[in-house]
Amino acid sequence: MEFVDQLKSAVDIVSVIGEYVRLRKAGPNRYSGLCPFHSEKSPSFSVHASKQFYHCFGCHASGDVLKFVMEIEGISFYEALKGLAERHGIPMPKRAQFSDEDSRRRAALFQMHELAQENFQQNLRGPAGEAARAYLERRGLRPETVDQFGLGYSDRSGRVLVRLFEQQGFAGDLVEASGLAGRRQDGSFYDRFRNRLMFPIQDEKGRIIAYGGRALASDDEPKYMNSPETPIYKKSHVLYNLHRAKDAIRKEDRSILVEGYMDAIGVTAAGFGPVIASCGTALTTPQVQALKRHSLNIVVNFDPDAPGAAAAQRSIDLLLAESMFVRIMELDGDLDPDEYCKERGPEGYAGRLKEAKSYFLWLADRARAKHDVRTPEGVVAVLQSLLEPVKRINDRLERLAVAETVAAYIGVERGVVLESFRKSVADRQEKTIERPKETVRADEKGLLCILLSETGGAPGRDPQQAQKLALLADLVNATILERLATRRIFEAIRAVDSGGMPVTFGAVNARLEEGDQSLLAEVLLAEETDENQLDLEYGRRCLESLLRSEGQLRRADLKAQIKQAERAGNVQEALRLAEELAQWERRGARA
Ligand code: UTP
Ligand code: MN
Repeated sequence: MEFVDQLKSAVDIVSVIGEYVRLRKAGPNRYSGLCPFHSEKSPSFSVHASKQFYHCFGCHASGDVLKFVMEIEGISFYEALKGLAERHGIPMPKRAQFSDEDSRRRAALFQMHELAQENFQQNLRGPAGEAARAYLERRGLRPETVDQFGLGYSDRSGRVLVRLFEQQGFAGDLVEASGLAGRRQDGSFYDRFRNRLMFPIQDEKGRIIAYGGRALASDDEPKYMNSPETPIYKKSHVLYNLHRAKDAIRKEDRSILVEGYMDAIGVTAAGFGPVIASCGTALTTPQVQALKRHSLNIVVNFDPDAPGAAAAQRSIDLLLAESMFVRIMELDGDLDPDEYCKERGPEGYAGRLKEAKSYFLWLADRARAKHDVRTPEGVVAVLQSLLEPVKRINDRLERLAVAETVAAYIGVERGVVLESFRKSVADRQEKTIERPKETVRADEKGLLCILLSETGGAPGRDPQQAQKLALLADLVNATILERLATRRIFEAIRAVDSGGMPVTFGAVNARLEEGDQSLLAEVLLAEETDENQLDLEYGRRCLESLLRSEGQLRRADLKAQIKQAERAGNVQEALRLAEELAQWERRGARA
């Protein structure tokens, strides 16, 4: 067996996916949960336990356990394979075919970041780091916090890292690709970060993939210098501190979002959390999706400054669009979260955190400050200003519930105004994209499941295989096949079999286009009967039913064609068709 197949049969897809998605048993072989690849509130994501695949009925994400790990971790095939093998104690074959060039490069880049980290931390502890240590002390960072966040210092020379990389034999293109060095006109390299306080940025597994470097002097520009995008660092996918915070986010079922590295560190050091930072820009969809796998509740604690406001609004809109429950935490005194914790102490911050309000009530407060809700005009104006934001909530029930809460909050309990508010909120135009769907008949579904079921024997060695495939031969010769939504799947089964391969889900699936893969997944997931009850007899009945309806469909077709020929005055054609119809009717009577 290929190593990939061996690995796939050794790992349980339900438990692997279960580490990322809360799965619930939903049928004999089926588990379901909220799709990690798109935004939803009711589960349309399923995992088929025995056929070892996942499929989302909403966004059509689909695949096997390796594809899942690749997609959710954003890693290469080789890394997914290696990671799964390691976790399950299965030794990887040392064949070159598995260690592709791409993964080797990425591994080297991770290694270079480890070297850099060692150097930065050493610098901070050593004589070169004196000024940096003084800076940290001035800002009230305790040594254990500095260690916890892996802070370091890049020295002034600008030559240490590039020399280190050279000594270790890293090729020039890797040094450049790492983002830790720049290249001069003459081709020589220099360290990108010089005389800066270094904040390591880690992926969800805790591997260092980039740095943010803060200037120590106030006239040193820019204030923060960050790593560029590299093969291991996709800015739009990473949230600062998520790897440390994620377990606690799950446990507490909420996170706190701040803007800066220093905010994340300061808030954590003050005893709050779990906190993550957006790094000063508006959030992106991949970031929100990484976050919402752990909890849907978030407290947004941005800086009070105006320039932050536009990015803040975009981030909030995105969080809402991803169906998260957003609360807003406001700080007074023009202080950012880090400064607030220091100036007002943990008690001060705790108080603001407790006061954090649902985004919609927070909006209502702001509207109320502008309009007088004791007058009918004021109430109308306040509701009007809330309409658009509330309408952006995806889930209809949630939207209506928020509308009620908001109305009660500003004191509208009944009346025409409330009615019209409710109605506009309810009537949101749904922009659901439905693909035209061919329906799959029950007998068609049944036959397909039989053909792909494995009733004993080693994988792919079903003792009843030959008899099952005889059923397929009958179907393939019937014209009904052309009418079935699943025709290409039946054809793929036949192709696998005639190629001398065992008919397994994987072999068949591999031959299908994406649309048919989705269809097959949906059929198999919809089948609620236990695979062991799918016997040959059941398959025969399905086939008979299909063949019977072939006659019915054919007759209906012919009748329509006869009518058309008659209307067109084509008597000869009508007679020919009538003769054909009579034949089908005789056949139908025999059946
Ligand atoms: P802030 O200016 O609020 O930084 O920018 P901060 O984290 O509070 O740091 P201190 O307290 O001034 O030391 C918020 C975030 O925006 C990004 C960084 O991620 C920073 O943490 N930023 C800011 C940059 O990337 N470049 C910059 O020049 C400034
Ligand atoms: Mn700050």
